[in-house]
Amino acid sequence: MPVTRPGVTERRVLSASPEATRALAAALASAARPGDLIALHGELGAGKTQLAKGFGAGLGVTATINSPSYVLMAEYEGRLPLFHLDLYRLDDASDVLAEGLLDQRQAAGVSLVEWAERLGPALPAARLDIVIVGGADEPRTICLTATEADFERYLDAVP
Ligand SMILES: Nc1ncnc2c1ncn2[C@@H]1O[C@H](COP(=O)(O)OP(=O)(O)OP(=O)(O)O)[C@@H](O)[C@H]1O
Ligand SMILES: [Mg+2]
Repeated sequence: MPVTRPGVTERRVLSASPEATRALAAALASAARPGDLIALHGELGAGKTQLAKGFGAGLGVTATINSPSYVLMAEYEGRLPLFHLDLYRLDDASDVLAEGLLDQRQAAGVSLVEWAERLGPALPAARLDIVIVGGADEPRTICLTATEADFERYLDAVP
């Protein structure tokens, strides 16, 4: 039974498989509202794209979500538009580009940003942070942090 605990800003979940990571993300998608920003953190191969795939499925996206390798952002149609950004290749010096990456268009949908830390000071303060720790075939520890009370609804959506 979901319990709402005011003031809880962080939750930690273990995921033993890519399927479990996708299922967690699909459950999180039920909490998505227009304009939300979710920052995905973790080393190469941690599972950020797996999480994006599950989140998209939860939003009803039927298209295949892959890493947007040579574009910084891909847009998918679901219950809400999903904007999937992968900023791995974004240079720290690209402030002008970074500022333009999160624009008015995203106000209508939810943005999932891999390597969000590349945005530096342009990373908005109001967001859900998801840190994935672990690699290869190890279980992952997935830590969710709401930086503002509004984003605690994602923590309540954790199964
Ligand atoms: N518990 C788990 N959760 C997520 N992925 C897992 C898990 N266990 C194993 N994997 C595997 O780890 C890999 C994660 O790859 P993924 O592309 O999602 O990583 P990424 O964080 O997006 O990396 P990159 O920074 O290169 O974009 C996949 O091959 C997936 O099958
Ligand atoms: Mg990825």
